[in-house]
Amino acid sequence: MDGSVELVIEGRLLTPKGLLDGCVGIARGRIVAVKKLLEGDVHRELPGCVIVPAAVDMHVHFRDPGLTHKGDFTTESRAAAFGGVTTVADMPNTKPPVLTEIALREKLEAVRDRSFTDYALYMGMGRGSDVARLGRATGLFKLYTASSTGDMLVGDTHTWTNLMARVAGLGGRVAVHAEDQDAIDRTVPVGEGLHRHDCSRPAQGEAAAVARACLAARTSGHPARVHVAHLSCAQALDAFAASGCSAEVTPHHLLLDRRMEELGTLGKVNPPLRTDADRAAMWQALADGRVPVISSDHAPHTLEEKARPFADAPSGMPGVETMVPMAMAHVKRGTLTLERLVDACAARPAAFLGLGPRAIEAGAPAHLAAYDLHQVVEVCADDLHSKCGWTPFEGQPAVFPTLVVGPGGVLVDEGVFQQSRPQGRYVGLDIDGLARLG
Ligand code: NCD
Ligand code: ZN
Repeated sequence: MDGSVELVIEGRLLTPKGLLDGCVGIARGRIVAVKKLLEGDVHRELPGCVIVPAAVDMHVHFRDPGLTHKGDFTTESRAAAFGGVTTVADMPNTKPPVLTEIALREKLEAVRDRSFTDYALYMGMGRGSDVARLGRATGLFKLYTASSTGDMLVGDTHTWTNLMARVAGLGGRVAVHAEDQDAIDRTVPVGEGLHRHDCSRPAQGEAAAVARACLAARTSGHPARVHVAHLSCAQALDAFAASGCSAEVTPHHLLLDRRMEELGTLGKVNPPLRTDADRAAMWQALADGRVPVISSDHAPHTLEEKARPFADAPSGMPGVETMVPMAMAHVKRGTLTLERLVDACAARPAAFLGLGPRAIEAGAPAHLAAYDLHQVVEVCADDLHSKCGWTPFEGQPAVFPTLVVGPGGVLVDEGVFQQSRPQGRYVGLDIDGLARLG
């Protein structure tokens, strides 16, 4: 049996039983053994590294098809791999928007054989989306309750309550961008730049939309199938509490806030960067597990687009490559446990998306990343790989992975990319069902 092991990685393993020194044996894309001693065709010793399940980023905008001047599936999935992310779920605000079966098929075709990470695809819920027909087929939907980049707003609360109940009832999953359009339209913002942007899309509006989304989720009878994207403030956390839903926080709502006006349009994002107190509340909620998931909301725009005046500049910032590395620096500092980080960036998103187990145990897919917590560096745009070429996290401490194993084998080794041919696969729910719908 040991003879058939292709790759052995040896180091400090984070297993379901805790941290153990030992070896992981990999063959044909799966973990085949976890033992103190193992032999294989190739043996990598990584003394000083913790070896953990690679991350699943369930909220990315890879911009393919139609917006590939900002990023495309190949460039952005490569960037993801450099940051220890080997599976992503990509949002539907591409061109054309993924609102119909035809658009979904076109997108599947456009990204086939072009992703270095495994991927699932969201469909939008909006004008023209036939949820009864597609809920079974793709299983994964994004609901925008307020307008943001790409107009997929479902304005009326009753409609989105019904859509959500329908999809969750069919066994599908819904991620909600919860902001309140009425609150946005009503406000007379004050200040300028990031402060003004926060006031123009107020925390109370987010909290109101989160409360309604959680109520709709409970009405559906399947709150655990509804995920609230990018919770950003203390009020929204209160509205979310005890809902039984899933939710995420982004690295930018943990590490940046509206006082950082020097970011200018690079800090413009929806929901907006909030106050320092909100940021502290989000850290607490991630650390104690009230917010189960961390996702990047990786939303690249070009520097040219971001150079427009604040009001016209698009919202969104890149983050898929820096998410886990910056969180690892917090593990090193002691503000987050390694177990909570791995739960938040691998186990919980995988469970929500209906992927198999993400753990260091025999039978699990070989998606692993090794981190040397002594190697803390500062984030620098020149070292990153997204097509957009910038980061709002310049100078933040980070621990980038030493080794990343994912689709096709070793993706990154000591900062050098190892794959020439993308081998990521579609791993979304029930794609055969889509084929049968024909
Ligand atoms: C996202 C984008 O650019 O696609 N922007 C953002 O500010 N988060 C769109 C979105 O999901 O709001
Ligand atoms: Zn988003």
